[in-house]
Amino acid sequence: MEQKDGKTGRFGECSARASRFIASRTIYPTFPSSRLPVNISDVLGAVTLPFVRKSSYQVHTLATAIVSASDVKKSFIHMGRTLEVLRGIDLEIVEGEILGVVGQSGAGKSTFLHCLGTLDVPTSGSLKIAGEEITTMNGARLAELRNRSIGFVFQFHHLLPEFNALENVMMPGLIQGKTRGQMERSAHALLEEVGLKDRVMHRPGELSGGEQQRVALARALVLDPKLILADEPTGNLDSATSDQIHELFFGINKQRGTTLVIVTHNTGLAASMPRVVTLKDGRVEKDVRREGSNYGSPREKSENS
Ligand SMILES: Nc1ncnc2c1ncn2[C@@H]1O[C@H](COP(=O)(O)OP(=O)(O)OP(=O)(O)O)[C@@H](O)[C@H]1O
Ligand SMILES: [Mg+2]
Repeated sequence: MEQKDGKTGRFGECSARASRFIASRTIYPTFPSSRLPVNISDVLGAVTLPFVRKSSYQVHTLATAIVSASDVKKSFIHMGRTLEVLRGIDLEIVEGEILGVVGQSGAGKSTFLHCLGTLDVPTSGSLKIAGEEITTMNGARLAELRNRSIGFVFQFHHLLPEFNALENVMMPGLIQGKTRGQMERSAHALLEEVGLKDRVMHRPGELSGGEQQRVALARALVLDPKLILADEPTGNLDSATSDQIHELFFGINKQRGTTLVIVTHNTGLAASMPRVVTLKDGRVEKDVRREGSNYGSPREKSENS
């Protein structure tokens, strides 16, 4: 049935079912300590507008900051009391970096990641994403920035259970208004890239945990965001499967130059990262760079030829 906006007619029943389903869902991530509700349409919306890819990655001569946080604070009012979770975070991340965020449970890692992803807004301080100050933006502009530039991968992938892997990966583009054919091509290519060529028609319940996480990674990438934020993306996977997913993340950074911010409790993963920030009690306790990593260095950029 054709809707006034033409969406149903254009994308078929898949999109109509998706809209109905997504509109009804609020997901509460089960990360320990986290009480932040994540609305799935926000998460999917996070990748629903295209990141306008530069004609080539060889554009700038200087590394560009994709995140600039200055004295970022975040408090929650809980049962009438103010809970200060982020107590003044200063951090700069440049395009092309891989940054690990570690720290004890309750240190504020997820809260900070949600602020970076514009799913939540700092109480005070300055936070620039891709050069734009987000603390003063209204909801529509935040959504547009999120849509344009950011992809999310969570520990519990938040795939839509009634859609197969291909449809899940296509979904951000379908919601945005891209054609089915266009999204099918991109989704197929990405699913092949993450090693799931033979599982495209499987629904999440018919995939292993590692396979589901690979679908989530493909979905986060499908509109080519500048920045991927991952919260314990392999927290519930065995170590061999985790290693495969980590390799995928690193490969994506290397091939596409995507900036990665990965919250992890995995000490092996953290040790392999070129830069690791430790949060403690809502502040940056340590910011350690490791020389010699093949991955995640700020992009060396030269003039376009
Ligand atoms: N919406 C909220 N309302 C009140 N308190 C909250 C809310 N979200 C988080 N908190 C509190 O903020 C603190 C930091 O939570 P956060 O989820 O950021 O921790 P974390 O470092 O990600 O921990 P973990 O490693 O266990 O996931 C916790 O003490 C948590 O209880
Ligand atoms: Mg957390």
